[in-house]
Amino acid sequence: DEDGYDLWLRHRPLDRAAQAGVQAQARSIVIPGAPSPTTQAALTELNRGLAGMLGHASAPASRIADGALLLATPARLPELGAASPLHAELAALGNEGYLLRQTRVQGHNVTLIAANSDIGLLYGAYAWLRDAATGARLEASSAPKLQLRMLNHWDNLDRTVERGYSGQSIWDWWALPDIKDQRYTDYARANASLGINGTVLNNVNSKPEVLTAPFIAKAAAVADILRPYGIKVYLSARFSTPLELKETSTADPLSPEVRAWWARKADEIYKVIPDFGGFLVKANSEGQPGPQDYHRTHADGANMLAAAVAPHKGIVMWRAFVYAPKGAHLADDRAKQAYDEFKPLDGSFAANVLVQVKNGAIDFQPREPFHPLFGAMPKTPLVMEFQITKEYLGYSTDMAYLGTLFEETLETDTKTSTGAVAQTLSGMAGVANIGSDRNWTGSHFDQANWYAFGRMAWNPQARARDVAAEWAALTFGKRAEAPVVDMMMMSRETVVNYMTPLGLHHIMGTGHHFGPAPWVDNLERPDWNPVYYHRASRDGIGFDRTAKGSNALEQYAPEIARQYADPKTTPEQFLLWFHHLPWDYTMPSARTLWAELLVRYDKGVADARSLQARWVALKPLIDARRYAEEEQRLNRQVNNAVLWRDACIAYFQSVSGLALPPGVKAPA
Ligand code: GCU
Repeated sequence: DEDGYDLWLRHRPLDRAAQAGVQAQARSIVIPGAPSPTTQAALTELNRGLAGMLGHASAPASRIADGALLLATPARLPELGAASPLHAELAALGNEGYLLRQTRVQGHNVTLIAANSDIGLLYGAYAWLRDAATGARLEASSAPKLQLRMLNHWDNLDRTVERGYSGQSIWDWWALPDIKDQRYTDYARANASLGINGTVLNNVNSKPEVLTAPFIAKAAAVADILRPYGIKVYLSARFSTPLELKETSTADPLSPEVRAWWARKADEIYKVIPDFGGFLVKANSEGQPGPQDYHRTHADGANMLAAAVAPHKGIVMWRAFVYAPKGAHLADDRAKQAYDEFKPLDGSFAANVLVQVKNGAIDFQPREPFHPLFGAMPKTPLVMEFQITKEYLGYSTDMAYLGTLFEETLETDTKTSTGAVAQTLSGMAGVANIGSDRNWTGSHFDQANWYAFGRMAWNPQARARDVAAEWAALTFGKRAEAPVVDMMMMSRETVVNYMTPLGLHHIMGTGHHFGPAPWVDNLERPDWNPVYYHRASRDGIGFDRTAKGSNALEQYAPEIARQYADPKTTPEQFLLWFHHLPWDYTMPSARTLWAELLVRYDKGVADARSLQARWVALKPLIDARRYAEEEQRLNRQVNNAVLWRDACIAYFQSVSGLALPPGVKAPA
């Protein structure tokens, strides 16, 4: 399995000592009561895992005996009922939590995986396998902190993937519903192993066709495969669908005709997908249709769809990533538009609407301050939208472990009554990096970003380093774990340094977003131009978002707004995000801003070289194929880093007219 297809579910042989320990816990596997598709999935995975780790599977048994691995819910095993010493702990774990325990049941020493539902048992089985493979403590209890843990596929119906860097879409819409690729089941296993419990199958830039009968049947076939793994299917809905299908005369959300159409459509979907999750909607953004086309609000639009799915317990995730081709924000500051449109609507969304907000107010940059809507909408459940696919971080070429990006955002204090960003959330959505490449994600290390997203959606307080360690041990084995983790932990900062240090943003190649293009200023919309964001000129560089500039700062809690209003108290990493400063501004390092910028770009290049060298040193510990595939990428990453540095420095120098400071050599 050197090709990476097995992801982190490699189940590799353990050393003898570890084998003995695991063997002692799983002499047989017992799941009392009638099997369900979900317990079957758990049993299959446990046996697959044991076969890999020990060389042989465990006999499924119907009787509890010493050394049994026992999977049970209170409904399956009366001993776990009200009289059980585990009862209170179990009850507190909710529908999806699980506990792992060495204990005695019916007079036998067993390893117990207990939960309140079969899905909880499946999650527990994956946790047990993870612990067995990594030698972690085999006693635990865990429940997800967020209810919605979703992937968002930006997959088109023709199998192209918007911002996808790992081949075609895994959803073969043409072949579905009759032909069901084994990959769908393996996708379900991988996601269930992380606790991901929802997936939006199609691009937010949606098409009306996806809500026609043939596509609903295809989605239903996928839903049938994912269901035993606890994963619900959702669809991205285009707001003007009924109008474009010529089944209504308008798409106005307050029109009775339109409301009735969506209610009927929901009924049609739920007939074949009884547990359909609901709709994800991108409206009035980047040219997509929406309620504002009819002078209605986002709430009017979202609530109309919410009413259609409410009788079926469905939900609507309404995206706050909005920026309009016209209007005041274009000339002023695109970063302000989402807050301005959504904050006044707090309290007017229906109970089954969640507002899905990107981690930052611009667009998945290598580094952004957290979005000011977190903490600002106390009456509305919010979903965090992270991008797993690395649209702005070098695609699947450059190594950038995103666990540190997720962690940095989630733990930021909003300085409102809600506390950290993580505390404001009801769910997390990750724009998937999955495709039909053999290794799923284009590069081996990008599997870690899928992994980290899932683990951190289960527990937004999880530490990026711990998650990296788990993934590295499962993927490369224990011996490679520490050095691989060190590479992962430095990787994203490396990319920030050679692309957009000190709070620079959106200076990538326009359109494709790969490579530097800070010089571009001729696109039809000013807010697509890199010059709009870096504002470099003879007098200085950076976007003034203080009161003398766009005043986007005002959207944050007063304490943050005050702190960031002064460049001296603004974290260096966001300096040019919030301030326009002269080139000779004195940095905390005592260097000028210009010199500091050069130091950062150089560090980015040096660290990219260091990643490359560290990988070479790891060669003896890594499978040949994985080693070679990643080596090529790291070589190219060094070239990318050099290009970024040289191009940005040359360009900024051309506008500033400044010489390179003494001691800095001009790029060769
Ligand atoms: C970015 C991305 C688009 C995407 C959009 C969105 O702008 O470049 O491809 O459609 O985000 O999140 O809706």
